[in-house]
Amino acid sequence: MPSTCVFGAQWGDEGKGKIIDRMAADADCVVRYQGGANAGHTVVVAGEKFVLHLIPSGILHKGTVNMIGGGVALDPAKLLEEVDGLRERGVTVEGQNLRVSASAHVIFEFTRTLDGLAERWKGDGRIGTTGRGIGPCYADKASRSGLRVADLLSRERLQPRLERLLAEKNALMTGVYGEEPFDVAAELERSLALGERLAPFVADVGAELRDAHAGGARVLFEGAQGALLDIDHGTYPYVTSSNTGTAGIAAGAGFPANQLEDAVGIAKAYCTRVGEGPFPTEDHGAEGQKIRDEGNEYGATTGRPRRCGWFDSVAMRFTCDLNGATGLIVTNLDVLSAFDELKVCVAYHLDGERLERYPSGRDLDGIEPEYVTFPGWGTDITGARSWDDLPAAAQAYVQHLEALSGTPIVMLSVGPERDQVIPMAVEAST
Ligand code: GDP
Ligand code: IMO
Ligand code: MG
Repeated sequence: MPSTCVFGAQWGDEGKGKIIDRMAADADCVVRYQGGANAGHTVVVAGEKFVLHLIPSGILHKGTVNMIGGGVALDPAKLLEEVDGLRERGVTVEGQNLRVSASAHVIFEFTRTLDGLAERWKGDGRIGTTGRGIGPCYADKASRSGLRVADLLSRERLQPRLERLLAEKNALMTGVYGEEPFDVAAELERSLALGERLAPFVADVGAELRDAHAGGARVLFEGAQGALLDIDHGTYPYVTSSNTGTAGIAAGAGFPANQLEDAVGIAKAYCTRVGEGPFPTEDHGAEGQKIRDEGNEYGATTGRPRRCGWFDSVAMRFTCDLNGATGLIVTNLDVLSAFDELKVCVAYHLDGERLERYPSGRDLDGIEPEYVTFPGWGTDITGARSWDDLPAAAQAYVQHLEALSGTPIVMLSVGPERDQVIPMAVEAST
């Protein structure tokens, strides 16, 4: 895997953290290139659970360099909290194995506050964000008023920039939101203190990454969120504010687009979504609740119950195609052991039309999914470690997912632990 992207092929929370942690055993660098602490990537090793928000999921492997690219919306307070939390648990996090781009845009306490206020302002049209300041940070970046990690490292540099930014934000706070203004002096001191602690990690990540790759390093790009939350190709406006898949890498990591070799999509064997927005295969009834119960489907960042429904092969064909997926990893297959019958969406019905191709750019609200039903297997598969350990009905279900997705399934996951996977032999996946 000289350079491989692992991206979410649904609406996020597909199990990327678990898979990246596993694949990181064979990687030299793991790189986050977009998103921020809105991500919650869960890794479970020998019963011990880690939830990573900003630190790449290679951090549990000694010798792996974890990089945070310039495209990440970086919240220094959250990052340092995470560093402290990992160190308390005996994980090494130092300047050698965690590199933070000097060009990453910064999320301040006030950026988070503004995220919440923007949601309040939108009322019924709210996105259901994670409240981590992502939208306002990327908006400031695009409007060229944002501050970057390098700005935190000196008072001379930070003070005028922060004063300018906060003058604008305070006009918004008092004039639009009817709130108290932010305290500029307090924000300045807090940010300088964070900058001081952040300094040992700060680097020219793009240059280091390109050098490492040129020297033969195996690089793993860790996508956050999912393809259907992509700002350009997702269910806009109910999306996050970055390019979540392979498209985000070149800009967000400073890595030439033509150097990426593989792209592995991660998908649950069913679908979940947190926050507002269209979800064609959502099950509002007892079966959706059963998926939530069996899969413990509650957000790793906000604890919100995830909306649950069936595997959507129309959306999957779209996200694999869009991201140039060379393989698919299907997670949470074990969760479906509790069902007698499984549904898979094979087409959409919209405005009197039957669609097998995802209707990008159209309003998805009125979609009626067309389902095919498959028999369940009814036995625990969490101990399965090879294709042959799976019951025939589980094998058949996976083969249907592969045929419908149009992308080879290269691995299955049957539990949250690092070793609960089934590598797919070539003959099994054809
Ligand atoms: P991410 O954001 O894509 O990294 O995914 P999250 O960590 O937010 O959510 C995935 C959840 O599913 C976590 O609680 C994982 O521990 C868990 N998980 C991952 N793979 C599997 C699996 O194969 N089976 C089960 N039952 N849980 C899994
Ligand atoms: P990981 O990396 C699932 C969702 C939010 C909301 C929308 C916009 O763990 O898969 P934002 O805070 O980004 O402005 O919220 O995107 N969202 C996620 N959903 N997994 C995530 O990350 C998410 N990050 C953001 O719920 O609907
Ligand atoms: Mg998550």
